[in-house]
Amino acid sequence: MLESMSELREACMQCRKCALCETRTNVVFGVGNEKAEILFIGEAPGENEDLQGEPFVGRGGKLLDLYLGGIGLDRKENIYIANMLKCRPPQNRDPKPGEMDECIGWLRNLVHIMKPKIIVCVGRIAAQRLISPDFRVTKDHGVFYNKNGTLMMGTFHPAALLRDPRKKGDCLEDFLKLQDKIKELGISI
Ligand code: URA
Repeated sequence: MLESMSELREACMQCRKCALCETRTNVVFGVGNEKAEILFIGEAPGENEDLQGEPFVGRGGKLLDLYLGGIGLDRKENIYIANMLKCRPPQNRDPKPGEMDECIGWLRNLVHIMKPKIIVCVGRIAAQRLISPDFRVTKDHGVFYNKNGTLMMGTFHPAALLRDPRKKGDCLEDFLKLQDKIKELGISI
C-alpha cells in the first residue's frame, strides 16, 4: 500500500491494468479535500469526466453539487469524490466485473490513506460492490451500514434523478440523513 495521496495519484495516472487505458483521454483519480472524513464513490467517468480528468463534471455532477450544497458540503472543501473505475468505459456502458476487480485496489489504497468515517455510494454499481451485492437503491437508499468501523450509505445516482425526477425527494432525504450523521459523529466540515 502507498502511504501518501501524491504517490497514489502518480501511480494511478500510469495505470495499464485493464483495456480501458487504451481508450481513455484522462485517468480520473478523484477530487476534493484529501483530509476529509467523508468519501463519495460514483461509478465511472463519462465523456466530460474523461475529457476534463475530474469526476462528476457533467449535468449529473451539477445536480450532485446542488445536493451537496444543500447540506453545506462543497466538493473541494469538505469531501473527496472518486469513482469505482478511474477510466471511462466506451459508450458509458456499465463497468465489467473484471475491470472493477483490477481497479478496486486504487480505491482500497485511497481508503487506507484517508480513513474516512463515512462513505457514500452514489448509485447501484458502487453500492452493490461496496455495501452488498443485493443492494437495491430504491429499497436500501439512505440506510447506514457499519462496515469495519466505516459507515456506508447508498443513494441515487444523479443520472437516475435526471431520468426520473420523482426520485429527487427521496435523494434529498438521504442527504438530510447524511447531514444528521455528520453532526452525530462530530465531523467538522
Ligand atoms: N457518473 C459517475 O458515476 N461518475 C462520474 O464521475 C460521472 C458520471
